[in-house]
Amino acid sequence: MNEILMSNAPTEEKVLAVEHYTDRLFRFEISRPASFRFRSGEFIMIGLPKTEEQRKPIMRAYSVASPSWDDKLEFYSIKVEDGPLTSRLQKIKEGDTVLLGKKPVGTLVLDALLPGKRLWMFSTGTGIAPFASVIRDPETYERYDEVILTHTCREAGELTYGKRLVDSLVNDPLVGEMVDGKLKHITSLTREDYPLKGRITTLLETGKLFEEAGTPPLNPQDDRVMICGSMDMINDTKALVETFGLTEGSNSQPAEFVVEKSFVG
Ligand code: A2P
Repeated sequence: MNEILMSNAPTEEKVLAVEHYTDRLFRFEISRPASFRFRSGEFIMIGLPKTEEQRKPIMRAYSVASPSWDDKLEFYSIKVEDGPLTSRLQKIKEGDTVLLGKKPVGTLVLDALLPGKRLWMFSTGTGIAPFASVIRDPETYERYDEVILTHTCREAGELTYGKRLVDSLVNDPLVGEMVDGKLKHITSLTREDYPLKGRITTLLETGKLFEEAGTPPLNPQDDRVMICGSMDMINDTKALVETFGLTEGSNSQPAEFVVEKSFVG
């Protein structure tokens, strides 16, 4: 019994880097144990060593933002002032310890989708995290002719993480040549002036999204969709995607689109 409990206990990892973007957003990197395997797009439990007042550590689900081939693990997080975990997590520094769960899971993986021509990833806020992993995975470009990542946020500063990442991909030794001409990054804002304004749901409803992407409207033969954001964003976006005739898939039953809620709190 003890042995089983021990083997499921999180591992203690070292913080390798921390970068803050806005007063609500930051990213961090931790060491990756050799035994830790995951598929690009999956999430894992992350926590901090328990304080004297805590009976056990507080752990929360986080999408791994780094690709499955990387020797480090990257996470992209919101900061919530009174959030049980993020109030403390936002203060981590290089060299600190972070707890890492052992069982990565999730549906935002290439295997949960049927083969197709075009992969769309619709994200809002920190919902871009799993897609930061998927767009760095060579398999994504082997499976699809076109890869389109959309990211909608309230304000410009919240787009920085995704923009820097996408810009850096051209020089990436592994996927640099694959992303060239194949990966499109469409960004929109809802609460500040910006060339493209509006929620992803609005862009889908008006067809503005397809104009921006230079594609025909979604269709179940060619298009595959991954959705990640708040619960409301997922429900509303999913309902719209279904109106184009796409059906929801899972690991056990791959289909045309998949959804997952991004971490909050
Ligand atoms: P809005 O500014 O109109 O609320 P949040 O930080 O609250 O998760 O929001 C991130 C982005 O997701 C914002 O641009 C927000 O737009 C948008 N959003 C919020 N709710 C929905 C929804 N139900 N459907 C689509 N987009 C949404």
